[in-house]
Amino acid sequence: MAPKDDRDPETPERFSVSRRAFLKTAGVGSLASAVTAVGVAEADAQPAGARALGPGDVPVTLMVNGKRVDLKIEPRVTLLDALRMRANLVGNKRVCDRGACGACTMIIDGRTAYACSTLAIDVQGKQIRSVDGLAVNGRLHPVQQAFCDHDGLMCGFCTPGFVMATVALLEQHPNPTPEQARKGLDGNICRCGTFVRIMEAAMTAKGVARG
Ligand code: FES
Ligand code: FES
Repeated sequence: MAPKDDRDPETPERFSVSRRAFLKTAGVGSLASAVTAVGVAEADAQPAGARALGPGDVPVTLMVNGKRVDLKIEPRVTLLDALRMRANLVGNKRVCDRGACGACTMIIDGRTAYACSTLAIDVQGKQIRSVDGLAVNGRLHPVQQAFCDHDGLMCGFCTPGFVMATVALLEQHPNPTPEQARKGLDGNICRCGTFVRIMEAAMTAKGVARG
């Protein structure tokens, strides 16, 4: 004998209708709150007299590796994309593009920064250094040379970011302890597993002078 079906034949339809109605109402509610939140945020973010920029191209002037770079880009363009796509400075790589791996690490006013998560327009007037500017007249920077000597790379995608992080580390701590070196490089990831050799390179290159 077939088991008895205790369900009310009306229930699924009644439930689904009411759920649909609920979702519609909830959607309208969230949209309304989102719109209100955006309105409030915009009102907060734009003080009286402030001039909105974009969404089209605007002039942006950057100081990169000691040279002036004049660009016309949308305000939403990151420093990494601005340099790679518009200024032919392609040394630093775009890997995760979300501030997680460090491949795009540059030095801005003496401090490391993820260029994929920094708006170009926000770093006007600052001194930006990318890996492209390290070698002088074809001679590698001592940190680049140390990476070569210690075979501190495999695929090389992480290398420009690690090199820049190492340069910043050594400028701050010319003779870093292993702990300081680990801390200085902990914003960078090598998926090929060369971290031990990178550390060797960083420790060998210690004492490198600023610049
Ligand atoms: S590409 Fe910028 S942190 Fe990974
Ligand atoms: S050398 Fe390939 S990710 Fe580091």
